[in-house]
Amino acid sequence: MGLVPPRKGKKDSTSIILWRRGASNVKITARSKTEYVKIGLFQVVFRYLILYLLIAMKKSLLVSPRAGYKLWAATYDDGFNPARDLDAVVVKKLFRNARLGMVLEFGCGTGKNTRVYARIARHLLALDSSAAMLEQATKNVRQTNIEFHRADIRKRWPAASGSIDLVACSLILEHVRNLDHVFNEVRRCLRPGGRLFISEFHPYKQLEGKKAKFETQGKTMLIQAFQHHVSEFLAAGKQSGLELTELHEWWHKKDKGRAPRLLTLMFTRKR
Ligand SMILES: C[S@@+](CC[C@H](N)C(=O)[O-])C[C@H]1O[C@@H](n2cnc3c(N)ncnc32)[C@H](O)[C@@H]1O
Repeated sequence: MGLVPPRKGKKDSTSIILWRRGASNVKITARSKTEYVKIGLFQVVFRYLILYLLIAMKKSLLVSPRAGYKLWAATYDDGFNPARDLDAVVVKKLFRNARLGMVLEFGCGTGKNTRVYARIARHLLALDSSAAMLEQATKNVRQTNIEFHRADIRKRWPAASGSIDLVACSLILEHVRNLDHVFNEVRRCLRPGGRLFISEFHPYKQLEGKKAKFETQGKTMLIQAFQHHVSEFLAAGKQSGLELTELHEWWHKKDKGRAPRLLTLMFTRKR
């Protein structure tokens, strides 16, 4: 309800107590009932208008991974993206001499690494929760030893126990709150001696405020992310019976003298 000061020189017909200041009541006067309602309505509309303008002017918006990747899918491969591009270089480098049987890639996205894994695997299961990203992947990657499926890493994985030689995840775990579930599913799906490869935004970089982001209609969209420190990855590995066998930190050439951009970890299922 709006507050209306009394008109100068006019005697007020209505006088109501609207709030208390200390021990004394503060009396506010209203001109007439209709004027009171009109001003109240005007104030409500005005407040919503200001709110709308603030939202419209805001340059960046935080969105869920589901909404974000749906919007980003068509342009994910375009332009400059140092984390995406560095990850592509790292994956090629680390797996250039590998020859594997069954590989499971979670968060395959538009297929940037899928074609690399398909080259070194007898069979590749490429999974992602975003239909839009998978649609791009099926257009981009044509090798015939790949099965694309829509699946959520936070649920039970569509793979038989003990069937996988390598699980690979690039730039997906920042979107997942609970690492223990992921590691438990990895442990279940890997055969003994099988490996888990993780490539993630380095937690130091996250502390600088870096997140997956893209531009659309003049706005920057930031995708909701969770911070996982190195110790968290190691603890999740330990509790699920996976042993850390390699750890690397990677810098993009624009990161000279700054925090590493990517962290990669390799775990092995002991038995
Ligand atoms: C930054 S992209 C990385 C794509 C690809 N790995 C790459 O390196 O270019 C993250 C991907 O993870 C997927 N993703 C996010 N949350 C997921 C979830 N809960 N389950 C499965 N996929 C998910 C997104 O749909 C998106 O394709």
